[in-house]
Amino acid sequence: MLRLDNQNVYYGESHILRNVSLEVGPGQVVCLMGRNGVGKTTVLKTIMGLLKSRTGKVRFGDEDISQDSPDRRVRRGIAYVPQGREIFPHLTVRENLRLGYEAGPADPNGGSEKAAYDEVFSLFPVLAQMLERAGGVLSGGQQQQLAIGRALLSKPKLLLLDEPTEGIQPSIVEQIENVIESFKTERRFAILLVEQYMEFAARLADTYVIMAKGAVVASGRAAELSEEQVKQHLIV
Ligand SMILES: Nc1ncnc2c1ncn2[C@@H]1O[C@H](COP(=O)(O)OP(=O)(O)OP(=O)(O)O)[C@@H](O)[C@H]1O
Ligand SMILES: [Mg+2]
Repeated sequence: MLRLDNQNVYYGESHILRNVSLEVGPGQVVCLMGRNGVGKTTVLKTIMGLLKSRTGKVRFGDEDISQDSPDRRVRRGIAYVPQGREIFPHLTVRENLRLGYEAGPADPNGGSEKAAYDEVFSLFPVLAQMLERAGGVLSGGQQQQLAIGRALLSKPKLLLLDEPTEGIQPSIVEQIENVIESFKTERRFAILLVEQYMEFAARLADTYVIMAKGAVVASGRAAELSEEQVKQHLIV
């Protein structure tokens, strides 16, 4: 479904991603791991077209999307929940959600706009109660729910999630985990998840990819991730 091959990305003259290749199959949950600063967020930004690789290709389905703009990639069905959430603090919850809905394609199944919002409210009931509040007054956990709800409204086939549990209290982490689990089992989204919280990742992921210093250094089935690899490459 998604295939990156040989991506080399720079910030100015700093070489950040080094020959990164990875694949996310249909309905698969891939967990991208590695210490702070190894380039995980840079990989997601490259997939979204916010950064461009000097080499290689990004393929989505059968198409080469390497030259597509970020909004074109959203319309193709890739949604991105950035690290730190990045909702619009001065827009209301309703307006933030609408941006997601309008960024996506028309619903291929002909579902109504109302049904799309109702689905988000059933996953995250707190959003329905806070529709007219400014996004910036929500708690961190509520903002994360808003960011995931907004991504969902763009009707993705592939969801990119950058550290969705970072700085969030355990009860909300559990709720977010349940929602991601339901995406996987009921909606069969493909998901590329950046996550340092090992147990969370282990419960959700089918495969893992570990990065170090801008390069992929290990990958395999999540069930086979060894403690040695975790100790060598990850914080915990
Ligand atoms: N806008 C930028 N300009 C220059 N360098 C940057 C920029 N953003 C990130 N970098 C550098 O690129 C490298 C990779 O950053 P990236 O954010 O992808 O790491 P990460 O693995 O997501 O880290 P974290 O776990 O802390 O989120 C780091 O060395 C970082 O300092
Ligand atoms: Mg990051």
